[in-house]
Amino acid sequence: MTKRKKKMKGIILAGGNATRLYPNTAQVSKHLLPVYKAPMIFYPLNILIKAGIRDILVIVSPAHSGRFLNLLEPMFRDYGVRILSTVQEIPSGLPEAFKLGEGFIGNDDVTLILGDNIFEDTETISEAIKNFESGGHVFAKKVSDPERFGVVSFDEAGTVKSIVEKPEKPESNFAVTGAYIYDNRVVDEAANLKPSSRGELEIVDLHNFYLKKGELKMSIIEGAWVDAGTEDSYLDVCILAREKELYENFDPIIKEAIEKGRERFKAMSKKMLK
Ligand code: G1P
Repeated sequence: MTKRKKKMKGIILAGGNATRLYPNTAQVSKHLLPVYKAPMIFYPLNILIKAGIRDILVIVSPAHSGRFLNLLEPMFRDYGVRILSTVQEIPSGLPEAFKLGEGFIGNDDVTLILGDNIFEDTETISEAIKNFESGGHVFAKKVSDPERFGVVSFDEAGTVKSIVEKPEKPESNFAVTGAYIYDNRVVDEAANLKPSSRGELEIVDLHNFYLKKGELKMSIIEGAWVDAGTEDSYLDVCILAREKELYENFDPIIKEAIEKGRERFKAMSKKMLK
């Protein structure tokens, strides 16, 4: 009997109110702010769609829930990409995504991407998703300010030694980025996590669950990676998107959906003018 390959589901975490970006985020979710040619969320969405994922859950804050679905659901419906959304009342750590997404994930494996993480190297991640079999697979990038992130250290053989969330004295310059592939066990693990001393569920506890079992894969990504949490890093992603022409790298489904959407939008505008 051939073993049935599990399906891969996708989750984009786009919750929170991004108060640091006020007043830009007073009316619009940070994840819908323009990043050059497309709203921010299209960039993580691109990685999932490129990897062949067709079931995607977007986790949003209560204030913005309707807007995501109004934009995304009709845009991708005709392309076989099912986009659902669910509300996160109060952000209490990244692993909450697997609790909120439990019913959506079902018995499948899952890739979580943070809605404000923009990667130049989408290929490494989408290929890893396509080739994923079991365990966990996360991605590191060399940065100059590792204390802001989950930090991974390696032994001489290049094997992962430890992963620590926002350490005061980082053991390396490698940050764990906001793209995580896990097998279905992550759902139970997330459900059993206890909040850390800062009162949040920590994604590093999930990495460490797989690390302890010797089932965590770590890939180093090439090119730029920006976590757009501040005004400056938001500007950085806009510049990155233009300079590296990230739009050119969008999956044909996304490019076509945007073109079709543009036509509908034009026709609607014409009608309204009449
Ligand atoms: C989160 C994670 C951290 C990771 C970072 C990537 O931090 O907790 O491990 O390195 O995302 O963007 P946050 O940005 O929520 O502070």
